[in-house]
This record gives sequence, structure tokens and C-alpha cells, in this order.
Amino acid sequence: MMQMNNLTNKRILLGVTGGIAAYKSAELVRRLREQGAEVRVVMTRGACEFITPLTMQALSGREVHTELLDHVAESGQGGGMGHIELARWCDVVLVAPASANFIARLSHGMADDLLSTLCLATTAPVVIAPAMNQQMWMNIATQENIATLGQREIRIAGPAEGEQACGEIGPGRMLEPEQLILETSQLFSTGILADLKIVVTAGPTREAIDPVRYITNHSSGQMGYAVARAAAEAGADVTLVSGPVSIEPPRQVRHISVDTADQMRDAVMSDIITSDIFVAAAAVADYRCADVAEQKIKKKSEDLQLLLQKNPDILAEVASLPQGPFTVGFAAETENLLDNARIKLQNKKLDMIAANQVGEGLGFNTDENELQVFWQAGEQGQNNQTGKNQTRENQTIKHQTLERAPKEKLARHLIKVIANHYYEKYSAQTH
Ligand SMILES: Cc1cc2nc3c(=O)[nH]c(=O)nc-3n(C[C@H](O)[C@H](O)[C@H](O)COP(=O)(O)O)c2cc1C
Repeated sequence: MMQMNNLTNKRILLGVTGGIAAYKSAELVRRLREQGAEVRVVMTRGACEFITPLTMQALSGREVHTELLDHVAESGQGGGMGHIELARWCDVVLVAPASANFIARLSHGMADDLLSTLCLATTAPVVIAPAMNQQMWMNIATQENIATLGQREIRIAGPAEGEQACGEIGPGRMLEPEQLILETSQLFSTGILADLKIVVTAGPTREAIDPVRYITNHSSGQMGYAVARAAAEAGADVTLVSGPVSIEPPRQVRHISVDTADQMRDAVMSDIITSDIFVAAAAVADYRCADVAEQKIKKKSEDLQLLLQKNPDILAEVASLPQGPFTVGFAAETENLLDNARIKLQNKKLDMIAANQVGEGLGFNTDENELQVFWQAGEQGQNNQTGKNQTRENQTIKHQTLERAPKEKLARHLIKVIANHYYEKYSAQTH
């Protein structure tokens, strides 16, 4: 089946109710996991008559939840999750199959078992896949319940028409797993970066001097992490390559943890060929020790000389790839911000650069930032077919200020600007 990147790392709570189509939800779990989704299964008592929790546990790789009044799960002991935790955990609730009985209970706001209670308690979108005998489906009671749920923005996936388990022909068959996966993935594909792959680097790097000491800088990783989160919110498939930081990675992104510039380079390069956008927000150490001491260096002489050697320039390397991604650099400067940013943009042949002043409550280790964004604006069609490494004689540098704001907000603004210029560049190339 086609890989739909927008389910990667998504948390799907699959509700299974008591219908004959419950056997298909076993296949559904398998397929969802193939798409990179994390799946937790909640089963009604009825569902357990049709398919065993053991099957669903084996396929989801997680404990299956069946009881609302579960003392252990509600106390959070033994890694158990209570109904509110489950409701908060998920990015989407998918109930497949949804029985006529469950649909009736949901439409009346009942909370008399685990699945119905967490459907009320969640803020995540709820998708239901009705599956029942065609008379049950067409019954006015069911139709009214469905209409009520539709008004509450619960998404109704299916049912399909055809031959039924009971031998009748008509509407009421559950949609096939593949179709349900498509409907679920569409929930996540509305962002401006939908279907694009983006690699973001963040944080400092750490270059060893000896087994106990290293060279690093003040980068906290906040800006890069905020960019990664904003890109994921915008629908991108995000890989975040991060140096050592003390913040939690956004859970929608693939997180690769590294220490040194060399490791960061290797992690970036292994992913970059298939990527559409590269944002280099890491503060990569320009130099590392030429020889790392094998043992702790002892305090003997008055002076100690360390010989440093240049680290790889990850940003320049990515920007010079013939079929490379749209490349965005960051420049943290203490002086001559605008000139340095322009020079870096041109010398490294970047598509865009976001520059920020470091110091005075801005830049490293602060919650707020302000960005000066520069990009190469060429004549339409100038880059046609020759790729990004051609001379940029007919190009001018344009500039925009992204006003001072908390880094999360600023990152969302930056992602919009990146998306605009990305689409501008590639539409120019295809015209
Ligand atoms: C053999 C058998 C098959 C059933 N198949 C369905 C079905 O496909 N869809 C449905 O809505 N109800 C079906 N039912 C009825 C439900 O199992 C019943 O309404 C149950 O209370 C549903 O519980 P739940 O909604 O809490 O899971 C079936 C019942 C039996 C005995």
C-alpha cells in the first residue's frame, strides 16, 4: 500500500465495537502501524465477543483497554492509562467497526463504558466507520443518530454497499482498512507543508577535548525545536537532528540525537536526498579538537594549547547538492547582522537565511527572538532546469523582518515564509 507520510508518528486510538466486521480491525491495526502510526486499541464488551483482546494486543504491540472502572489503570500504576490519559494521548479516535448500538450511545452523549467516555473526553477528532445489517443502517433511529453526530463534526466514514455477512445486499458494510487509512490520513493533510519532507537541525554540538571535557556553545535548541514543531503542525514529515539539549522533542517528529558536528552531518546526509526542505537551526561548532586526549588532561603547565581543526560545514554541503532541498540557514550574530547574513546567503548559495542578533535578551537561551529573513529572488524561470547552483546574476536579495515574538509563534511565522518561497521557487522552475 502507498505510504501516506501524514500518519507517521500519529497516535491513533482505535475503538472496536461489537459487530461482525471486528475481524477486519485486526488488519486495520497492522496497516496503520505499517504507515508509522502508534496504535492503542480500546474494545467494548461486545467487541470482545467477536475478536479477542489478545489478537489486538499482539498486533498493536500494546496492552488493550477494555474497562472503564479499572482501579489499576486509573491509578496510573504498572504503566496503565486511565480514560482521561487515553483521551489526551491520541491525535485521532477511529471507531471501526462502529455498531448501531455504539452510534446510538455516542449520539446521546452516554459515558457508560471506556470507549464512549473517552469519545466525550477527547479534543481529538473522532472518525466512526459504521458497520451493520442494511436494515439496521437504514432504520430511522440510526439515520437520526448519524445526522446528529454529523452536526457535531464527528466524521462518518462509509458505510459501503454490497453483500453483507448476513447474506443481504445493501448499505452497511464497513469500509475496507485501506479506505479507512486514507480517510484518517486526510485529517492530517491540510497544512501548508502537507506531503513535504523536512529535515531540521537544532541545538549545539559538543566537541570532546578529553573524556571529561568538551567545547560547546549556549544554543538551547528552542528555536530549532519550535521550527520542527511548527513544520509538523503544517503537515510536514519532520526529522529533527538535535545536539544535546534539555528540552523534550515534539512527539510528531522523528528525533535523532547526536553529540558532535560529524555525527550531525552523517545524520543529516543520510536523510537529505529524499527531503524537500532543510532548515539548519543548529549552532554547529565551527572547530573541533584535532586530537582528542585519550585520558583526562592534567593541570600541569600555566598554558595549555589546543589545536583546533575545522568541522564539516553541513549547511554549505547540503546547499551545494545538485538536486538538493530548499535550504534555509540560520545566522546568529553579535555584530553586523544584516551584512553577515547576506554574505552567508550568497557564499553558501542558500535559498534563504534567518538571522538573529545574539545578546540583550535575544537569541540563545531566551524565550523570545526576532528574525531578519533574506532570500534570493530571481526572475521567474531563471532557475529553470539548471538547478540551484547556477550563477545568480539576475537575482536580488530580498528582506523581511519577523517581529519579536515568543519562539513558538515566530517559528510558525517562519514556516509560512519558508513555505511561500519554497512554492514560489518550484513553481518558477516548472513554468
Ligand atoms: C452474530 C452477531 C453479529 C452482530 N453484528 C452486528 C453488526 O455487524 N453491527 C451492529 O451494529 N451490531 C451487530 N450485532 C449486535 C451488537 O453486537 C450488539 O448491539 C451489541 O450490544 C453491541 O455492543 P457495543 O456497541 O457496545 O459493542 C451483532 C450481534 C450478533 C449476535
